[in-house]
Amino acid sequence: MKSLCVIGSLNMDLVTTVENFPVAGQTVMGKAFNTFPGGKGGNQAIALGRLGSDVLMVGKIGEDMYGKRYLEVLRSNNVKSDGVSIEKGMSSGVAVIQVSNNGENNIIVVPGANAEVDINYIESKWSLIERADIFLFQLEIPLETAIATMKKLKKQGKTVILDPAPAVGLPDEIFKYVDYLTPNETELETLIGRKINSEENLVEAAKTLFDKGVRVIVAKLGSDGAAIIKKDKCTRVPGFIVDPIDTTAAGDSFNAGFAFALAKEKELKECVIFGNAVGAISTTALGAQEAMPTFERVDKFIRDR
Ligand code: RIB
Repeated sequence: MKSLCVIGSLNMDLVTTVENFPVAGQTVMGKAFNTFPGGKGGNQAIALGRLGSDVLMVGKIGEDMYGKRYLEVLRSNNVKSDGVSIEKGMSSGVAVIQVSNNGENNIIVVPGANAEVDINYIESKWSLIERADIFLFQLEIPLETAIATMKKLKKQGKTVILDPAPAVGLPDEIFKYVDYLTPNETELETLIGRKINSEENLVEAAKTLFDKGVRVIVAKLGSDGAAIIKKDKCTRVPGFIVDPIDTTAAGDSFNAGFAFALAKEKELKECVIFGNAVGAISTTALGAQEAMPTFERVDKFIRDR
């Protein structure tokens, strides 16, 4: 099995559950408050570790109790943490999250130490980084670091997966370094700068990104599953129906499942089915990482369906 490396954010999630989200200017009573490890990078790494991958995490935590707790969480979930350093005098990244009755969420991220993941830091960890084959990126560390690192990795012939989340417009250069782009609908619309309302539109939208260098787009479509778009061909892969409690990190879990199967050199469609299953299972408990499954659980979940 190929080895994996996640380069990205580590946050502590401050999660409040509410009946309904407050509107601007409104005060509502929350039902519960919890802290959970999160961050799009950390979530992908933990999901990969739990599945049994050989995975290295590269990122930064702050000099605080959240950072200390996160290091323990990485280690106890089979994730190599030698790529994670403590940024002196800084706080760890945090995400303030509201989860509503139907499992939907609102998230505000304060980057803290994640903002200090610069290219010098990446260089300092390069001897560890270059041992991996497949790399997962998201957009909660500085964009210039992600771009420069991807460029270096592509020169070495590595495989790059980019989850373009949170949704921001991106410079054309980044797409030259992306093998697999895994946006959800909102992110895809942000990348192309217009609404998508049909399958034809989806293929049309994808074309602009293929022209910029992306090899394959795997569009995450929530409970509708995913679409694999390659040149002008779009293959729909249905999702799995579960009763969601908290959809935070469903996308991160999808990416981890997808990358895990890719590392096992499975066919693209099988990778997406596996990603869909990991994403669906991850929504069945409160907290980004609480319901992330083992390989055996995912295997059984897919076979039972
Ligand atoms: O994708 C979910 C994650 O987004 C949360 O864990 C939160 O930390 C934010 O980064």
